[in-house]
Amino acid sequence: MGVAVQVEGLTKSFGNQLIWGDVTLTLPPGEISVILGPSGTGKSVFLKTLIGLLKPDRGSVVIEGTDVATCKEKELYEIRKLFGVLFQDGAMFGSMNLYDNVAFPLREHTKKPESEIRQIVMEKMEMVGLVGAETKLPGEISGGMRKRAGIARGLVLEPEIILFDEPDSGLDPVRTALISQLIIDLNSQIDATFLIVTHDINTARTVPDNIGMLYHQHLAMFGHREMLLSSDQPAVRQFLNAQKAGPIGMTEEKDEDELAQEAHYEMPPLPPIPMQVMPSDGRPRRGQRPPGEWCRQNGVTPPPGSFRQTMSMAPGGAA
Ligand SMILES: Nc1ncnc2c1ncn2[C@@H]1O[C@H](COP(=O)(O)OP(=O)(O)OP(=O)(O)O)[C@@H](O)[C@H]1O
Ligand SMILES: [Mg+2]
Repeated sequence: MGVAVQVEGLTKSFGNQLIWGDVTLTLPPGEISVILGPSGTGKSVFLKTLIGLLKPDRGSVVIEGTDVATCKEKELYEIRKLFGVLFQDGAMFGSMNLYDNVAFPLREHTKKPESEIRQIVMEKMEMVGLVGAETKLPGEISGGMRKRAGIARGLVLEPEIILFDEPDSGLDPVRTALISQLIIDLNSQIDATFLIVTHDINTARTVPDNIGMLYHQHLAMFGHREMLLSSDQPAVRQFLNAQKAGPIGMTEEKDEDELAQEAHYEMPPLPPIPMQVMPSDGRPRRGQRPPGEWCRQNGVTPPPGSFRQTMSMAPGGAA
């Protein structure tokens, strides 16, 4: 089913630079959550703090009763085995072929014989569509293939929690859609909790069950996708609609002059909430709830035209 990750009051700074403060959220087990945020807001720092690679100033990250932020090195080592991570740059060993890269965690963390390792590696390579590319070096393949190889490597230890750091960055729209579909398919096939950080709005609108947004050194919101996609909060609205006008500027926050200039600008209406991308084998999503249910239960009127099948941004158009 995957495990829950409970983050409470998490605060991180480097020297006197506060990255984000007082972040509180729970990743629901087995569901897909997205943390969205402009560049430089500390999304990668957040992921690294979840796996204990960076220590927060304050707060806790509790996984199965253990607080990653304060536990001993030995406990951390055990907790890390629950994670599969796709780092932003892929973090592949350049001199190792894809097979050895994907096999690496198994050789490092288990005593499995090579025959079993081969079976696991090939199964994961097949899941991400890389059979036939085993002997290629990371430098010889496209960015999209490197991302998929990174995902395969993240899967070999059968993780309970999978973290994706910008799985869609640097990919063309078709490859982005294919990676999104791959993530949805994996989620329906394996028992794990998924967290994706991205600044891709299409991904954020169609892939997750839950969305959070890091902005202005805090978590502006975290909750059911329908909550964020129908939100009137200016920064959330600006970001999810890719608008220039709003509180987010090139330097993340706009100065007063810029905001004054925009004072009379009216935000365009919210676009309809699209349907979620579905698993390609026709199974329901693991965290499936009826479209519009959250809005109904919370008395929120979704933007006109929401939840129409044709609104889906799934790969291949309307499907
Ligand atoms: N190890 C570190 N030491 C000092 N500062 C750091 C360190 N790691 C990250 N930072 C700073 O933390 C801030 C957030 O960085 P981070 O990489 O998490 O941003 P991001 O949201 O992932 O951005 P992007 O979308 O561009 O990947 C940046 O200002 C960065 O310079
Ligand atoms: Mg990053």
